[in-house]
Amino acid sequence: MFGTITWNEKYSIGIEEIDSQHKKLFEILNSYYKNLVDSKTIGVTNDVMKDTINNLIDYATYHFREEEKLMNSIQGVDFSSHFRQHQDFCLKVATLKGKTFLGNDVSFELFDFVKDWLINHILVSDQQIGKALQINTTENTII
Ligand SMILES: [Fe+2]
Repeated sequence: MFGTITWNEKYSIGIEEIDSQHKKLFEILNSYYKNLVDSKTIGVTNDVMKDTINNLIDYATYHFREEEKLMNSIQGVDFSSHFRQHQDFCLKVATLKGKTFLGNDVSFELFDFVKDWLINHILVSDQQIGKALQINTTENTII
């Protein structure tokens, strides 16, 4: 599934800080896509592609840490599979990045993987953070 990714309200998990980080991830992913297309037509240097991939990975890593801090602050919910999904993502992307940097042309595969993963992850797993936080807040209010 190629093409850029557009923010839509269905992606909102009801936590402004996380939503804006997801929007930023979409932006970075879209600029990665643009560079990717340019690299096949007008030519973008390998250094630019490497910078874009590193930028994407750095921001995703920062974002996961922020989400994990938030999950750790929510009581009574087991988020271990969510943490594992973040780890699996980082491993997969690191592998694809390694192949790309070695000269194998997997840059579209990397884009495709990140895009599909991000959409599914936000719609399923991240939505659970929003719900759990809502329940936690309500319980604390009642107490
Ligand atoms: Fe997540």
